[in-house]
Amino acid sequence: EKGGYDYFMLKEIAEQPKAVADTLLGRIGADGRLHLDEMRITDQQLREIDKIIIIACGTSYHAGLIAKYAIEHWAGLPCEVEVASEFRYRDPILTRSTLVIAISQSGESMDTLMAVRHAREQKARVLCICNVNGSTMPRECDGVLYTHAGPEVGVAATKTFLTQLVAVYLIALYIAQVRGTKWGDEVFAMVQLLATMPEKVEKVLETMGPVRELARSLANERSVLFLGRHVGFPVALEGALKLKELAYMHAEGFAAGELKHGPIALIEDGLPVIVVVPPRAREVLHDKIVSNIQEIRARGARTIVIAEEGDDTVVPYSDTLIEVPAVPTLLQPLVATVPLQVFSCELATAKGHDVDQPRNLAKSVTVE
Ligand code: F6R
Repeated sequence: EKGGYDYFMLKEIAEQPKAVADTLLGRIGADGRLHLDEMRITDQQLREIDKIIIIACGTSYHAGLIAKYAIEHWAGLPCEVEVASEFRYRDPILTRSTLVIAISQSGESMDTLMAVRHAREQKARVLCICNVNGSTMPRECDGVLYTHAGPEVGVAATKTFLTQLVAVYLIALYIAQVRGTKWGDEVFAMVQLLATMPEKVEKVLETMGPVRELARSLANERSVLFLGRHVGFPVALEGALKLKELAYMHAEGFAAGELKHGPIALIEDGLPVIVVVPPRAREVLHDKIVSNIQEIRARGARTIVIAEEGDDTVVPYSDTLIEVPAVPTLLQPLVATVPLQVFSCELATAKGHDVDQPRNLAKSVTVE
């Protein structure tokens, strides 16, 4: 059942191109327009919303953080993101024109479920993004957009995370289509590009040999830091979470711009720092992060740089360079996350851990 792999996690990482393709399947029309009629939220309702709030936990929360950038940019709506366990105990200001999006792989996380109920009691419309048919959340929400990752057995979310990203991109682009916001060349082109993402993810998977080698060489480190900006920041948080849960190692993700406000004090000789570099097309962000890489390297950090292929600017400052296919910034998490999954999985197995069943963790957290 593991299809020849030692762990479900390895199989699930390898299945990502198909999971991404399956989540897109039937949702892009021949005319290049999106069809999400199954969502149970009408176009009229989508035209009426004036704010989006995303609630989720763990890895799904990281998908939510990325969604914020996509929704603000394409759909042109204000968007807040919060961990469900915090949202639930606040008095959020919600109205009938607030759309709450709950993201949950299992559809059963108690924290998210309680946050969904909290939002519905206050009359907000709630849409969930979920991978498990017939689970609790799709039944309790006003609408649902399913991810089609197939069952995920490994406790660490991998293919479900990538498909959650696909789902949030689809929603953001669909809202743009319905509301007419920015609908035009950019959104049309983005939908076309989304359709090519399975091949791009496949390309990343084909080049993971050096990442595995790197992971094994770092198995005895005490700590690894992750840096990113824009959508690369949640990718950094996700990389750190994977390393914590699988390798039981101290790992922390930072927004690269925050480095100088404190975390740079942590940099010492030999400390591995993984940096997610935005595409060169994002010139300002790109150049700022390249300066960050120089700064930390000058202070002794061992720099592991994830950048788009052909980005020569980072070569002089990268102790290890991991290249990913060139894609627009907002879509980069789909390719940049994969090396981080492979890295944590390999490092944890090098330490002798069972990556499918990390200690103290459950696949579905049904207690608050
Ligand atoms: C991390 C992981 C957890 C889940 C979190 C939410 O690899 O799997 O952080 O993402 O428990 O679970 P769902 O998405 O089922 O609500």
